[in-house]
Amino acid sequence: MKVKITGTGSCLPKLRVTNDDLGQIMETSDEWIRSRTGITARHIAVEETTTGMSTEAADKALKNAEISAEDVDIIIAATVSADKHLPGLACEVQKNIGAENAVAFDINAACSGFLFALDTAALYLEHGGYQHALVIGAETLSKMMDWTDRSTCVLFGDGAGAAFLTASEEGGILSQSVGSNGEKWEVLSCPKGGYLQMNGQEVFKFAVRTVPLCVEDALEKAGMKADDVDLFLLHQANVRILQSVAKRLKQPEEKFPMNMNECGNTSAASLPILMAQLDEQGRFHRGNKVVLSGFGAGLTWGATIIEW
Ligand code: COA
Repeated sequence: MKVKITGTGSCLPKLRVTNDDLGQIMETSDEWIRSRTGITARHIAVEETTTGMSTEAADKALKNAEISAEDVDIIIAATVSADKHLPGLACEVQKNIGAENAVAFDINAACSGFLFALDTAALYLEHGGYQHALVIGAETLSKMMDWTDRSTCVLFGDGAGAAFLTASEEGGILSQSVGSNGEKWEVLSCPKGGYLQMNGQEVFKFAVRTVPLCVEDALEKAGMKADDVDLFLLHQANVRILQSVAKRLKQPEEKFPMNMNECGNTSAASLPILMAQLDEQGRFHRGNKVVLSGFGAGLTWGATIIEW
């Protein structure tokens, strides 16, 4: 598939909440959270909204790609925490950035959402005759947390990220592997109007078992080996999950950049925020092979290999 990422952007809420801050309001500690998850802080939306952060991330991605909003053909937003039931987040962003020629809609695949949105946008570019797509992952999960449940609320954070995709003659998406298992939806869920509930150990076991298999499947489809990959961008849920995947793939941890220490788990926003931060640091070079992998509620999972 000939699709390139030519722009990225992200937005985090102003309020940074450390583990010690949480220790002031509930029975927890920096040591407990950091040793089990790798998280030391997260950003929490107070004034910010899912739509507002998405708009900022999208604006930055367009600027970064040096493209004007009228040239955007498709906007796909991945979120489980849009500000409104309807319209979709993507439609509000369309208005805010002035992308009057785009078709806009949302995808809910929880923490895998950005990856599924990216794959969907790439298919539209390849088969739909479109040229340019904006893919957004954005969450204000803090609004879905039970702040008296220390086993969940310490893990998550808010934010938004966006990637701009262009149909291209070269490089692009080399392969994809996606899956889901609805039988297990109860291990991570949030009822309407209620709070997020999770069986942490079940989710942990699922992730360390499934992510390496799905990355290996994507590698095989691309005719590649793990050694050929420059960077593995995994959903930022937990440092121990990433370390376990690195070990299973026999790859050094340095190839697995992380930001969950500062952002926590931002669900669908985690991959595009990480991607935008690395892009800003100049970590991607033309021709680099990058694996993106998401996993989460559904259960859902996926891996996509991109040539930068
Ligand atoms: N601070 C202090 N203690 C806490 C705590 C907190 N924030 N949260 C839970 N505990 C306590 C529990 O109450 C339990 O106490 P008990 O033994 O007296 O009952 C103890 O710590 C151990 O809890 P447990 O759930 O067994 O911990 P764990 O080692 O499995 O770690 C997770 C919990 C959530 C960190 C871990 O299961 C995990 O990371 N799972 C994956 C979650 C994830 O990534 N989800 C998103 C995927 S998209």
